[in-house]
Amino acid sequence: MSDKRSYPVTMKAVFTDKAGEKLLVKETGIPDPGADEVLVRMIAAPVNPSDLAQIRVACKDGDEGTFIPGLEGSGIVVAAGKGILPRLWLGKRVACSSEYRTSGTWAEYMVTKAGKCFPLGRRVTDEQGSMSLVNPLTALAFFEIAKKNKHGAIINNAAASALGRMVELLGKKHGIPVVNIVRNRSQAGLLRQQGSRHVLDSSDPAFIKDLGVISEELGATLLFDSVCSRQLEEMCDVLPAGSSVIIYGNLSGEEEISVKPRTLIANNLNISGFYLGSHAKNNGLFRNMLNLRQVSSLMSNDLKISIQGRFPLTEAQKAVDTYLAGMSAGKVLLVMGQE
Ligand SMILES: NC(=O)c1ccc[n+]([C@@H]2O[C@H](COP(=O)([O-])OP(=O)(O)OC[C@H]3O[C@@H](n4cnc5c(N)ncnc54)[C@H](OP(=O)(O)O)[C@@H]3O)[C@@H](O)[C@H]2O)c1
Repeated sequence: MSDKRSYPVTMKAVFTDKAGEKLLVKETGIPDPGADEVLVRMIAAPVNPSDLAQIRVACKDGDEGTFIPGLEGSGIVVAAGKGILPRLWLGKRVACSSEYRTSGTWAEYMVTKAGKCFPLGRRVTDEQGSMSLVNPLTALAFFEIAKKNKHGAIINNAAASALGRMVELLGKKHGIPVVNIVRNRSQAGLLRQQGSRHVLDSSDPAFIKDLGVISEELGATLLFDSVCSRQLEEMCDVLPAGSSVIIYGNLSGEEEISVKPRTLIANNLNISGFYLGSHAKNNGLFRNMLNLRQVSSLMSNDLKISIQGRFPLTEAQKAVDTYLAGMSAGKVLLVMGQE
């Protein structure tokens, strides 16, 4: 570890209460970084659907006393454990993701692997940088998959999300049309206003028929599904033969979905899952570094994630409530050091 300790002994961090119903802030010890690890003084961290899923799991597992939420954020590396990479990152402003359930980004400090930190470009702000890993890298991954398998167009749902808007932006850059599915008329209006050409509203009675028509027309043979509702069965029925369905989220909260075997066979459908962590592992270091450079360049130019609110750590519960009341209104950030 670096010789001089430049940080306090305790910090504020977010935990869940015993019943798993409320987030609260407690004072806890700041961990020292071990070999290949760094200590990051956190600046900002978003609330993402994956954070809420992790909180639910932690409460189910009885980890309320030790689990600190937060999968991504931005901050400054203030201490380095043994190893070349930790030393290299010392003093740098980084985007970072958590490695341990006991040390998440919703805290004043986080210990994580140095390999999970990436220096932020000068033109990327702390706030935008705090959201530069999970969604931007997923959006890039979608186009890697689309290009590799030569899909004519992409279909994506929950498309008024931060990720959905990135997918639309990248679709224009790559010349691959994107069919955006949203869940109500106001979201559809919003996306059209922002320049999205293909928008379908899943609450419209003609939705399934329209999906069939547009996917045939565009050769949209790749459906990314983050909602995973019972409607998926009907959607599969109208996709072009040979389509791939990739499930990457479970916003509906449905425990089970069903698909007719006949549809799978007759339409030669392929259904699989996507998790960014596994995708990045398969990509290897070089590809990941290229993708991070691309994200940095996008974020320095036209990729700006909208933010609907900023809250101090002590108001973590209010931050989550605000986010849940209207996710499409923009990301909610926890901003450290504001109390
Ligand atoms: N697998 C992976 O590795 C990976 C990586 C990144 C992201 N993701 C997933 O990508 C999705 C989008 O993430 P994000 O951070 O971009 O989200 P976000 O910006 O927070 O927005 C969430 C969107 O989902 C909509 N939504 C919520 N519940 C819904 C439901 N039951 N049916 C239809 N739409 C619903 C919201 O609409 P309202 O405003 O109407 O609530 C909002 O437009 C999430 O499911 C996330 O878990 C997965």
